[in-house]
Amino acid sequence: MNSTENKNKKNGIDTNCIKLAQSAGYNKLKTNNSEWAAKRTAEDPEYFKRLAEGQQPEVLWIGCSDSRVPANEVTGTQPGEVFVHRNIANVCVHSDMNMLSVLDYAVNVLKVKHVIIAGHYGCGGVAAALTNKQFGIIDNWLRHIKDVYRLHANELDRITDDKAKVNRLVELNVTEQVYNICKTSIIQNAWMERNDLEVHGWVVDISTGLIKDLGVSSSSPHNLGYVYEFDSSLDAIAAH
Ligand code: CO
Repeated sequence: MNSTENKNKKNGIDTNCIKLAQSAGYNKLKTNNSEWAAKRTAEDPEYFKRLAEGQQPEVLWIGCSDSRVPANEVTGTQPGEVFVHRNIANVCVHSDMNMLSVLDYAVNVLKVKHVIIAGHYGCGGVAAALTNKQFGIIDNWLRHIKDVYRLHANELDRITDDKAKVNRLVELNVTEQVYNICKTSIIQNAWMERNDLEVHGWVVDISTGLIKDLGVSSSSPHNLGYVYEFDSSLDAIAAH
């Protein structure tokens, strides 16, 4: 056994057994990366030095995982300008520790000023939620969108065109997720501390590249109503 084999065994992995994919598409990623880094450095020798110093993004983007809606490209922003969280169909569930951790860090540490929930027309996740088919474990995630459908069934059931129905549910889903984000204690407590935090709902039209602002922006808890609006945490403590 030569020294390389020993090293591989020591790490607990016999890499001799791994057949690495060497597709042209995969290799292109590495070539693209070195070309990108070289181009950026040629344009601005201090670029990566500055980037490595830290980030001060003003925006948290919560979008769909769909490969056609990258946050930076869609908004014409650079690395460092947008903090990003993406999942299938841009769903914001109040028990999702991943989303809550991103939201808390963005709002309370990075102090972002805008949280944008960004859906997109033709969303496969939303379309799947409108069917009765099973797709696997994702069905449990998509059930949150089925709940949005149920809330708006009267309107959606009147739409006969399938594509139009999906796209309307895309809009209603974004609006519901804006509402869900506003309901979190993270956003409500931040609103008690500062007045420069807004939550917005957008839909990206992949066929034109353009964003539609749904006009559901919110900067206070006062339209949450029902049992969702929290008292300030200090008041709650004093009451006990
Ligand atoms: Co999607």
